[in-house]
Amino acid sequence: MTAPKKLFIKTYGCQMNVYDSERMAEAMGSQGYVATDSPDDADMILLNTCHIREKAAEKVYSELGRYKGLKAAKPDLKIGVAGCVAQAEGEEIMRRQPMVDLVVGPQSYHRLPELTARAQAGEKALDTEFPEEDKFEHLASRPKAKRGPSAFLTVQEGCDKFCAFCVVPYTRGAEVSRPAARILSEARDLVERGVREITLLGQNVNAYHGHERGLGGLIRGLAAIDGLARIRFTTSHPNDMDDDLIAAHGDCEKLMPYLHLPVQAGSDRILKRMNRQHTRDDYFRLIDRLRAVRPDLHLSGDFIVGFPEETDEDFALTLDLIERVEYGSAFSFKYSPRPGTPAAERDQLTEAVKDDRLHRLQALLTRQQRALQDAMVGRVVTVLFEKPGRMTGQMVGKSEYLHAVHVQAEGVSAGDLRRVRIVESGPNSLRGELA
Ligand code: 5AD
Ligand code: SF4
Repeated sequence: MTAPKKLFIKTYGCQMNVYDSERMAEAMGSQGYVATDSPDDADMILLNTCHIREKAAEKVYSELGRYKGLKAAKPDLKIGVAGCVAQAEGEEIMRRQPMVDLVVGPQSYHRLPELTARAQAGEKALDTEFPEEDKFEHLASRPKAKRGPSAFLTVQEGCDKFCAFCVVPYTRGAEVSRPAARILSEARDLVERGVREITLLGQNVNAYHGHERGLGGLIRGLAAIDGLARIRFTTSHPNDMDDDLIAAHGDCEKLMPYLHLPVQAGSDRILKRMNRQHTRDDYFRLIDRLRAVRPDLHLSGDFIVGFPEETDEDFALTLDLIERVEYGSAFSFKYSPRPGTPAAERDQLTEAVKDDRLHRLQALLTRQQRALQDAMVGRVVTVLFEKPGRMTGQMVGKSEYLHAVHVQAEGVSAGDLRRVRIVESGPNSLRGELA
């Protein structure tokens, strides 16, 4: 019997890429590949790339450069590039880096086994189509192995919003939703294998329309699955928070009180130039409605500083929005011009201005994050335990609000849900005791 071939996947970027990499590894498993943690003993190396911000393609080329020695020593080694850089660069990757055997865009992963076979036959294999069929339907189904307590599940991909800074509508294509029945059956399968929390993924997850009642309807369907304890979803656009989804935050117990709802900027002038299609007041009204049904909701957001033409006044309005909303966590970025997007053609601000604004914005967000975390001390939360901590007898899990919580919890296993009293707040996590 021949030894199984080894596959090394390096994943960049968002949670959707993490999910895609898992599914690709499974599909390649049915082709006789087993996963390895190191490129050194791999028979195939796959880079699952991200193109959202600057220098993405350059990073991929320099990573590829590092594999030159490996390829020289082992000519049978196959090297592939997947993900959004593959989509954006296409054949250019093979021109610039001839040792690449295979290029596959995010919508063509179900063709990976066939592309691999072609690469093994010595061909250059490329697929960056946006086919009609559901790639997940055609990927080998997940094997029945036991899983950790928390899993991602992609429900939609792509985006039709065309924010002026963003490459996603170009790299991931138009919005496509997976049918609810398929998601429900994948979720049941995950639960049978030990999963207790599912995070629904989509570039614009609340634009989901694979269920007649949208994402709210899908969440209610998932909530009916016995053994599934928690549901989360990410990433949302404010304009797609419909009435039913807002109501679900109040009446669906399994939907966790944590919402990632990016606004990007706080000035109407910049929101308009970003083509966000909403104002700051629309955002405030939406948050008021959400907090009316779920007062303890923790909000998270994404912010871009230094967008073209952003003035000091515009930036001050972003800080003011953050003060008013109070975020439990947030991600913030300097604007980086992406080739092919409208904002890349406009006059750019200097790096110094962007650095200064990012620094001030992050200082405010960190203060807020810490204050909300500190306010948990003395409260009793529910923790879904995920893994042992560093100390003997210690377990680490997540609260409803997505805070990491460390607990001395002898006898508690991964997958258990327990009430925990928070006794201390550290820089990045909480410490608690079983209540
Ligand atoms: N420059 C900086 N940040 C960006 N994002 C998307 N495109 C850009 C860009 N060109 C950020 C947005 C988005 C997050 C995933 O990445 O804040 O919500
Ligand atoms: Fe990009 Fe999100 Fe805007 Fe879509 S809604 S274009 S994914 S930032």
